[in-house]
Amino acid sequence: MSSMQRTLDGARVLVGVGGGIAAYKTAHLVRGLVGERAEVRVVPTAASLEFVGAATWEALSHHPVLTSVFEDVDEVAHVRFGQEADLLVIAPATADLLARLRIGRADDLLTASALVTRAPVVVAPAMHTEMWEHPSTRENVAVLRERGVTVLEPAVGRLTGPDSGAGRLPEPAALLDAARAALAAPRDEDGGVRRDLAGRELLITAGGTREDLDPVRFLANHSSGRQGWALAHAALVRGARVRLLAANVDLDTPPGALRQDVGSAEELAESVAAHRREVDALVMAAAVADFTAAERSGSKIKKDDAEGADSVPALALRRTQDILRHSVLDRAETGGDRPAIVGFAAETGGEGASALELARAKARRKGADLLVFNDITGDVFGAADNSVRILDREGEEVARAEGSKTLVAHAVLDRLLTSLPEVR
Ligand code: C5P
Repeated sequence: MSSMQRTLDGARVLVGVGGGIAAYKTAHLVRGLVGERAEVRVVPTAASLEFVGAATWEALSHHPVLTSVFEDVDEVAHVRFGQEADLLVIAPATADLLARLRIGRADDLLTASALVTRAPVVVAPAMHTEMWEHPSTRENVAVLRERGVTVLEPAVGRLTGPDSGAGRLPEPAALLDAARAALAAPRDEDGGVRRDLAGRELLITAGGTREDLDPVRFLANHSSGRQGWALAHAALVRGARVRLLAANVDLDTPPGALRQDVGSAEELAESVAAHRREVDALVMAAAVADFTAAERSGSKIKKDDAEGADSVPALALRRTQDILRHSVLDRAETGGDRPAIVGFAAETGGEGASALELARAKARRKGADLLVFNDITGDVFGAADNSVRILDREGEEVARAEGSKTLVAHAVLDRLLTSLPEVR
């Protein structure tokens, strides 16, 4: 039986490789997992060895590679691998492999391990669009998801031949984030990921807005989008539909998220307004500029626009809309409890008040259901780790989370579950 290891560091990860051309991308995934100090065993199907050979997997994982249940029989690998794993990731999964997983075949080491394991299972299908859309495959995917298997949506784009469509294996970085999210997720009785957000839709904002001053320069902030991304991945593995508003984020789209890129606070405000009444929850993880240029200059602001050699041009700024507050007021206007609203507050403290005191006051002022406060006296931007306190609208602490942004994301979703509106 696997342990309750929740982070990749030290986790025993079984990587299954199906027989598709995208198997070469899985080499990067294995590299990424090993880089996070996971203990990786690669289990390729016999067909996949036509695409990437055992030597590659052995070199990357630092372990011998087995394919058949008849190799190293004395080690009983077909039982042991599955039992010991903290996580099973299958990438790429072909249509044939999905079918075998669905009906519970055990005719090679990978499918046998999938039957034995009680750890979370993440499956990343990759195939031609026609095969992905075939009713057989749709049904296999639906059954696997019902059982708590995380079946990722393939990416849309160029396929192996001249055609394009849904069926690409997501980028290795996105697979790694999905694996992280599944490992840290709450579990059902069988050890699968609990799909407690199935049927729910979340609108998540991520990143930092950019406010143009002229065609060349902008005002921005240090937000990387990682916390919003972690929230999107966590919500997706728990079964939610996710609409992701990305403000200047340079990260691979979480598989299955409906991503829309925005630039400025105004663009973000418009997109939030367009969707907030449709969703069950609005999660405002983006760092939104509080000020923007009063007037954007159509041409580059010149040094000599200022009077005198040492002087600088005066920048006139104006306030942007507080999207979070606006959303709370909009909800009050509709008279309903939809959407649940989560804000974030990064505080450093100052002027006689501690960061926590400022956050508590902010929670009361903004009126969101939850305010996730993080003390940024340290260095959190772009970092993998975070430490937060979750406050309710009275400013009372209702939960704390510390560790990876993925763990923080799940803790926020755990609390959010208690604020969600009735299912429509
Ligand atoms: O007031 P402050 O910027 O600290 O509040 C942070 C929270 O408010 C975050 O959830 C952020 O996304 C949101 N916010 C907003 N619109 C702004 C500024 C911040 O929705 N103009």
